[in-house]
Amino acid sequence: MTILGIESSCDDTSAAILKEGKILSNCIANQTIHELYGGVVPEVASRAHQINILPVVETALNQAGINKKDLDAIAFTRGPGLMGSLLVGVSFAKALALGLNIPLIEVNHMQAHVLAHFIDDPKPQLPFLCLTVSGGHTQIVLVKDYLEMQVIGQTLDDAAGEAFDKIGKLLNLGYPAGPIVDRLAKLGTPRFAFPEPQIAELDFSFSGLKTAVLYFLKDQIKQDEDFMKNNLNDVCASVQARIVSILMNKLKKAAEQTGIREVAIAGGVSANSALRQALHDTGEQLGWNTYIPAFQYCTDNAAMIAMAAYFKYQQGLFATQDVTPTARYTF
Ligand code: KG4
Ligand code: ZN
Repeated sequence: MTILGIESSCDDTSAAILKEGKILSNCIANQTIHELYGGVVPEVASRAHQINILPVVETALNQAGINKKDLDAIAFTRGPGLMGSLLVGVSFAKALALGLNIPLIEVNHMQAHVLAHFIDDPKPQLPFLCLTVSGGHTQIVLVKDYLEMQVIGQTLDDAAGEAFDKIGKLLNLGYPAGPIVDRLAKLGTPRFAFPEPQIAELDFSFSGLKTAVLYFLKDQIKQDEDFMKNNLNDVCASVQARIVSILMNKLKKAAEQTGIREVAIAGGVSANSALRQALHDTGEQLGWNTYIPAFQYCTDNAAMIAMAAYFKYQQGLFATQDVTPTARYTF
């Protein structure tokens, strides 16, 4: 069984080939143009997807050594995401499936981030907990089965990746700022104590942290106009340490409440070195088995879409030609 997966929910155009449950290729075209604007511009993203999608799909087929006539299904991200970006992937997938007369499989992007854990070994045992942290979402997911998941905690305002990016903007870093904060934090010490929000249950909040950093910087710069220049690495280390502690404290609470010791992280922010280290250390301390996807399967990619489609194919869960993208897609 050979599946072509297509991902176009935000600013990366990606295509992947999966054969008999194994990923043969995973091709990604990044859109660097958004760096100019300090964030993703939806209309620009949508037009870039239109330019990129055909060469990206052709490259994925070529790298895998697969002819499109050998495909058994076409999978695509239906949502959540930017409507204009999703439309490109959905329309392309529908047209190709119609032309080849093969089934279509629609995939929830957030479920796919979780299912990225089944691409490589070691794979989590069901049921497991997955902290899915990206630019648009922050969720603790109770994964009961491959396609049976429940969100048991989520952010009430900004997502963790958004917090990295927005605070990075205050620090005049480029976009996306998450990886830059990660790099600079390695050179600094977390000596500034930003507040930890007190949010009930397993939910998160990150907008207060952004405001706290804004006022902290204003205050410090008033006293010393070179504060940013001389303390950037320490500010990055402090911000990162707080974001990681907020995430890990809720994850620990979720593990305690559910009694589950199989614990995973997924999504773009799971590429963060401090979060990866914290999960590993907490796992050792509390006797969890911990899982982190390979770096290339943390940020947006089509391999995870093809992987999710593999489970849907086995259950005969196909979409019809009247399927439409959905910007908000819960599960
Ligand atoms: O999952 P993803 O690629 O796209 C969405 O679905 O949003 O996540 C992108 C987010 C961005 O906010 C980016 O800054 C963040 O992941 N990110 C990181 C790191 N790498 C990517 N945040 C912190 N540290 C990193 N190393
Ligand atoms: Zn994502």
